Amino acid sequence: MTTTITELETRERLQPGLASSSMLWEYAPSLESTDHVRVAPRYELFIGGKFVEPHSGKYFETINPATEERLSEVAEADAEDVDRAVKEARRAYEKVWRKIAPSERAKYIFRIARLIQEKSRALAVVETMNGGKPIKESRDIDIPLAAAHFFYYAGWADKLEYAFPNRNVAPVGVAGQIIPWNFPLLMAAWKLAPALAAGNTIVLKPAETTPLTAMLLAEIIQEAELPPGVVNILTGAGGTGAALVAHPDVDKIAFTGSTDVGKRIQRAIAGTKKKLTLELGGKAPNIIFEDAPLDQAVEGIINGIYFNQGHVCCAGSRLFVQESVVEPIIRKLRERIGTLRVGNPLDKNTDVGAINSRAQLEKIRELVDSGVEEGAEMVQTQCTLPSRGFWFAPTFFTGVSQSSRIAQEEIFGPVLSVLTFRSPEEALEKANNTPYGLSAGVWTEKGSRILKMAAKLRAGVIWANTYNKFDPASPFGGYKESGFGREGGIHGLGPYVTLS
Ligand code: NAI
Ligand code: MG
Repeated sequence: MTTTITELETRERLQPGLASSSMLWEYAPSLESTDHVRVAPRYELFIGGKFVEPHSGKYFETINPATEERLSEVAEADAEDVDRAVKEARRAYEKVWRKIAPSERAKYIFRIARLIQEKSRALAVVETMNGGKPIKESRDIDIPLAAAHFFYYAGWADKLEYAFPNRNVAPVGVAGQIIPWNFPLLMAAWKLAPALAAGNTIVLKPAETTPLTAMLLAEIIQEAELPPGVVNILTGAGGTGAALVAHPDVDKIAFTGSTDVGKRIQRAIAGTKKKLTLELGGKAPNIIFEDAPLDQAVEGIINGIYFNQGHVCCAGSRLFVQESVVEPIIRKLRERIGTLRVGNPLDKNTDVGAINSRAQLEKIRELVDSGVEEGAEMVQTQCTLPSRGFWFAPTFFTGVSQSSRIAQEEIFGPVLSVLTFRSPEEALEKANNTPYGLSAGVWTEKGSRILKMAAKLRAGVIWANTYNKFDPASPFGGYKESGFGREGGIHGLGPYVTLS
């Protein structure tokens, strides 16, 4: 069965009698201005400190997923370009970066952090235009956190002997880093900052649908006067990533993206000297016990799954509710999703922006259809969606069985599956019953229960009475098919050093 929540219904409930009035939920559009933003018609590859044409001469279009309008075109790097970039990275590593004083490395990283802060407005707007995420998120979360990661790791550059006491610490060498489209600049920061601090040089490949902030970052790196070749940025799709993974002179691969590609990378480098960290998918459980503050929990659930259109590897996509509070939780969820504003990501009032690409939208639709076919009950907001661009209305399912696809597979969209439990043991068993193990949330008044659940949940990150909170000092990463290795914090330095 499918229910849609109409705007009228939401208005009537919140203010009876005012259902037909336009006063309650209409905010005047508050558009972030774009006139201060300069997007070039074309971006080249960033190799050896210069912007250079791709060997193939090929470029591909990059669009705004909220309008399908063309924003720019970017170069498509092939194996020759990868080879050029890796050679530059190797030269910079041997001749400059591994040799200079760690405190000098720190100065460059601080400079990048400050330049990101200075240019944060433009970076936020471009991130939103190219990726579809609401401006309030790119402005308040992605860009400040990206700067914070550079600040944080700049501080470690000359203190590595304190991070690894009584050990000799050396860099790994040339790192190949491949990132996804859900947090484009932030993922670049997560990858670059610890690698640079530890003395490595880098070839970074952004995702094909969101290359623009990476190219603005290349300009920042140039402006920061980083020695040429220390950071190289190659745009392209899966083939470019595969060529980087296959290059024999890369010492370490760091990948964030789908579990499928993660496994392919693992196979590709098996038996080589390359070190690897993988941050892959998730199907995070958010567990609400009957003693939890229910309104606060519902707010956290909403943030956990509809934040960034559900394009979040640690999204709380499975909700487990203790049976005694199922009725109020479902009612509150219905009420709350009815008030989410879906639309123009550049509008400061928007809660849910555009889906990142047509391919991702099709994947979401296919999985949602499978949920309906498998007999779950779907509740969806009926909002007026823009006629162009890629959109999906906030949705949740009740009556979901453990084995159904929407309870097992990563949807990576604004879609929540609600399941129930009676005892903490049952919650644990069900929560751990997926191939993934990236994150989890626990909602309860009882401190001892939080600690017990946290010890038994197989997840790298566990939030208690909150969700989706990030800090550069705190490590992030998964168990099982969610990958291995940690990013963030002192742990995040580990994959970029060799110890003796
Ligand atoms: P993807 O894993 O194909 O893309 C991630 C990055 O890997 C991109 O830069 C891409 O160009 C690169 N890539 C693709 N094939 C490669 C290969 N053979 N070798 C090296 N690099 C390669 O993810 P996609 O197709 O964009 O999304 C598919 C699903 O993956 C999503 O629906 C979502 O479920 C999941 N995903 C998870 C992410 C996470 O943060 N854990 C991020 C993005 C997607
Ligand atoms: Mg793919």
